[in-house]
Amino acid sequence: MVDLSCEYLGLKLAHPIVPSASPLSKELDKAKQLEDAGAPALVMHSLFEEETRSEAEHFSRFLVDQEIGFGEASSFLPEPVEFKNELDNYLEQLQNLKQSLSIPIIASLNGISMDGWIEHGKELQAAGADALELNVYYIPTNIFESGQQVEARYVELLTELRQHVSVPITMKLSSQFSSVAHMVKQLEDAGANGVVFFNRFYQPDIDLETLHIKPRLEYSSSIESLLRIRWIAILYGQVKLSMAVTGGMHGVKEVVKGLMAGANVTHVCSEILSKGPQRIGQIRDELSHWLEEHEYESVQQLIGSVSYQNAIDASYYERANYLSVLDSYSHAPGVWR
Ligand SMILES: Cc1cc2nc3c(=O)[nH]c(=O)nc-3n(C[C@H](O)[C@H](O)[C@H](O)COP(=O)(O)O)c2cc1C
Repeated sequence: MVDLSCEYLGLKLAHPIVPSASPLSKELDKAKQLEDAGAPALVMHSLFEEETRSEAEHFSRFLVDQEIGFGEASSFLPEPVEFKNELDNYLEQLQNLKQSLSIPIIASLNGISMDGWIEHGKELQAAGADALELNVYYIPTNIFESGQQVEARYVELLTELRQHVSVPITMKLSSQFSSVAHMVKQLEDAGANGVVFFNRFYQPDIDLETLHIKPRLEYSSSIESLLRIRWIAILYGQVKLSMAVTGGMHGVKEVVKGLMAGANVTHVCSEILSKGPQRIGQIRDELSHWLEEHEYESVQQLIGSVSYQNAIDASYYERANYLSVLDSYSHAPGVWR
């Protein structure tokens, strides 16, 4: 029997196919379905600081600034304790998930201010999160902000938060750094326990009729996994932190490649959103099959086996790739004469 177990952020998991942050964790029954389908852990949807802030500001304006004229009438205003904001809802959902499920729950935080990251980080830990995933979804649009300054924000945030929470912290990163490898090393030095490669940036689209900019959310395709696989392969063995791959994990082939590159776990989102929770168990079984067929005894044996350090033709992970890819081009048949 193949050993599928793995370790991620110090958590012992039954296998490496983990549902990543998505709206599924907002509903207890959906989260339960994922556990029943074999999920070895669950990453919650993100708590967005701006949501908690705008609600808090709105609420305080409602309570404090409202001129209703009569002192007695003020007693009709709602008691603060009865008002549940986004933060309360999130913490309650986290507690419910912890009570109802037996798998580790990784809370996800998307902050905008240092205070927000720290306060919410502490609250998530207190509510029982087994680990924190920090989704630093930040697009530097200021032409006077240098890459170094952008990187320093990440490091500063992590360094501060590390002093206030003891649970493992993993950083869900963008691929858009001038040196991804150095960024990851800086995060490791600042106390990160893991890195998730990579955040998918959703690109805004222009509506040609209304000229409005509209958000555009589409499921991923498996080709997106290759960028992630490359960076994990390059970093495997150079850093000690846990690595997770998110983006384009749709089936056993991508999962095997992610692990071979050096990921400790693979995160799955589009696949389960579009096809259902049973995909977790199916991919797990396919992974077991694949390992058996290829005479592996464990997932552990697979991890990093085709990393930059261990691959026979590792130079393909670097620039050499570029030349041979261009050389491999041939004209589309029947299109060019
Ligand atoms: C509908 C939807 C909601 C998502 N919500 C979150 C979120 O709250 N926090 C987060 O970090 N990522 C979120 N993601 C990103 C996913 O966790 C995942 O990283 C991304 O979709 C790439 O994985 P995939 O290719 O398996 O879909 C969301 C993705 C989708 C499609």
